[in-house]
Amino acid sequence: MSTITPLKDLQTLVSLCKRRGFVFQSSEIYGGLNSCWDYGPLGADFKFNVKMSWWKTMTRRPDIVGLDAAILMHPMVWKASGHIDGFTDPLCDCRACKTRFRQDQAPQKNGKTICPNCGSTEVTEPRNFNLMFKTFMGPVEDAAAVVYLRPETAQGIFVNYENVLTSMRKKIPFGIAQIGKSFRNEITPGNFTFRTREFEQMEMQYFVKPGTDMEWFEKWKETRLAHYSRLGFKPSSLRFHQHGPKELAHYARAAFDVQYEFPFGWQELEGIHNRSDFDLTQHSKFSGKKLEYFDEQTKERFVPYVIETAVGCDRLCLAILCNAFEEEKLASAGGEGDGDSRVVLRLKPFLAPVQVACLPLSKKPDLQETAFKIRQDLSEEFRVDYDETASIGKRYRRQDEIGTPLCLTVDFESLNDKKVTVRHRDTMTQDRVEMSRLSEYVREKLRSF
Ligand code: GAP
Repeated sequence: MSTITPLKDLQTLVSLCKRRGFVFQSSEIYGGLNSCWDYGPLGADFKFNVKMSWWKTMTRRPDIVGLDAAILMHPMVWKASGHIDGFTDPLCDCRACKTRFRQDQAPQKNGKTICPNCGSTEVTEPRNFNLMFKTFMGPVEDAAAVVYLRPETAQGIFVNYENVLTSMRKKIPFGIAQIGKSFRNEITPGNFTFRTREFEQMEMQYFVKPGTDMEWFEKWKETRLAHYSRLGFKPSSLRFHQHGPKELAHYARAAFDVQYEFPFGWQELEGIHNRSDFDLTQHSKFSGKKLEYFDEQTKERFVPYVIETAVGCDRLCLAILCNAFEEEKLASAGGEGDGDSRVVLRLKPFLAPVQVACLPLSKKPDLQETAFKIRQDLSEEFRVDYDETASIGKRYRRQDEIGTPLCLTVDFESLNDKKVTVRHRDTMTQDRVEMSRLSEYVREKLRSF
């Protein structure tokens, strides 16, 4: 029997991500830039797959369409949305060790705030710190030229509500989905890619008739959980957290977080919010444009309510990697890696950056050519890697560590019997398969994971 250990500490994953080309520290050769991360070759592919699976689950429905709005928006958008006045965190400075921290995340004792770094109670009164990044539009850096990097993608959707409604002839209920970068000048970023100042969001705003909003809210909670299950999360690794009256954002009528148990504890992965008619009403007021819906059948006119699902793509990528990571001590039973241990990412094949690895058993030219030809043929349909370095055992380990579901080994016998050995990531079992039916075989196996 092999024994399996899940991910215990984040640092183990951070090292794997760097070693295997998933995530690098931004500007590393200059000493790095705090809380900014770059996705390496495998990470970029993996993140793209995570986005695609979200995009498909949203926009392949007949009632949801996509959007790609600009990051820079008219400054009035942020006045109307409440971000200029209210998107703040309470910032404290420790007089003893000079640490800056959020008061709402710091320990309190007898009504006093305690510095989370040194434990001193010599801390400044909290002041409201606005999280939006400011920049200037055009060559003159004056107050009239101030624009903001968007702190959420949602507002791009609200200000395009009317455009989408009329150009796409949508009927309520309908949704608009968007993936894009957001920026928040977080006081305490950290935990790798969990909380950063530049991140990507995947948000969907679903416009419904007032009165049907809570029903849709419940439906979206269920729909989102089903998506997490497809991504490979076990029900026990996720939970809902309902926002109490003090936690509710200024726009929210009801809010639930989907939380995941990261190695550093249960944390928010996605927010599901009932935003009522707050945003459309605010943008109507500030822009002077009516943002309503006219129901042809009932002849009613109303401002739709909005149910929002909002997840950070980087945070989701991190959760998927934590969830997929396993260290396996292999049984001493004469099988592969007898008594050894391996690290394996049990990624769903549609998320894995490499789906199939083609491996010639030795550097013999005939074997290399055959393996390379298979790589070429399969890469029409699948994400395929070719690797001829190191021993076959080491190459299997390397592929396990990046989550490759299938390895195809071309050996000496392959040249005679026109078959390859297919080795499965999760079970390490092997099949012998005719080269002529490899595409069909791989397609079927990847589907069955
Ligand atoms: N439009 C609603 C909205 O933006 P939010 O709860 O502030 O709601 C939604 O953000 C999701 O975006 C969060 O659940 C989280 O996954 C992600 N997110 C927010 N701030 C983030 C940060 N600083 N770094 C990484 N992801 C973040």
